[in-house]
Amino acid sequence: MRITINQVREMKQKGEKITMLTAYDYATAKIVDEAGIPLILVGDSLGMVVLGYESTIPVTIEEMLHHTRAVVRGTKQAMIIGDMPFMTYHVSVEDALYNAGRFIQEGSAQAVKLEGGVTVAEKIRRIVECGIPLMGHIGLTPQSINQLGGYKVQGKTPEAAIRLIEDAKALEEAGAFAIVLETVPAQLAALITRSVSIPTIGIGAGIGCDGQVQVINDILGSFTDFIPKHAKQYAKLTDIIRNAVTEYHNEVKAGSFPTEKQSFFVDESVLAELTK
Ligand code: KIV
Repeated sequence: MRITINQVREMKQKGEKITMLTAYDYATAKIVDEAGIPLILVGDSLGMVVLGYESTIPVTIEEMLHHTRAVVRGTKQAMIIGDMPFMTYHVSVEDALYNAGRFIQEGSAQAVKLEGGVTVAEKIRRIVECGIPLMGHIGLTPQSINQLGGYKVQGKTPEAAIRLIEDAKALEEAGAFAIVLETVPAQLAALITRSVSIPTIGIGAGIGCDGQVQVINDILGSFTDFIPKHAKQYAKLTDIIRNAVTEYHNEVKAGSFPTEKQSFFVDESVLAELTK
């Protein structure tokens, strides 16, 4: 049985910290699930850390669904949250509902996430009314990077901070089961966390959130084009992979790989038949 939104809500009530990580493929998702991480986000960060795009904007729903299905296949316990990509929920309520439904029906996700607060509240209300659990995402919303003018800390002026608090309340009121707070001053994130009854999951939003989310490639050190300030590297996979690949390359060149251990053999009598 997978983690439910009720269990996530209860974690906030009990003061139990909530861990969320991204995953994009079967094998990694399996490890994350086995480690007991309750929430796995198939983030549209996929575009940058897996597909090599410059931002999340080019990511399509077909790409997201493809990876969501792989993550679902690799997991048994975690709730899988599909990230709705740019322009899949912007045009109309109908569009938003239809595309959220695709994540559940075709992607087999248990929930969806989308970016925005007050401006998307109506769409969220409709999606939730149709039985689709939804996670909000406010603060630095990467799909609006061209509007925001860069990956900057959000909510630094009193007006911007008030807007973020209103956004969080609008998400709660519309029926979101949790809210991602991205790149928000720690004190403001803590204030928002106290102002809403649903859990806040921070990324670059300090310790006062109900939970934390990170992009898995950032914490594993397997994507190093840029390392966000909010990320801590728990491993340096790029170095480990580079060393392994170089050793393999050298062994093939030197004729020391494969050995008998990695080879298959046929009975000598079969070979004798061939040379008769
Ligand atoms: O796409 C993503 O990985 C995200 C997280 C950073 C929250 O939205």
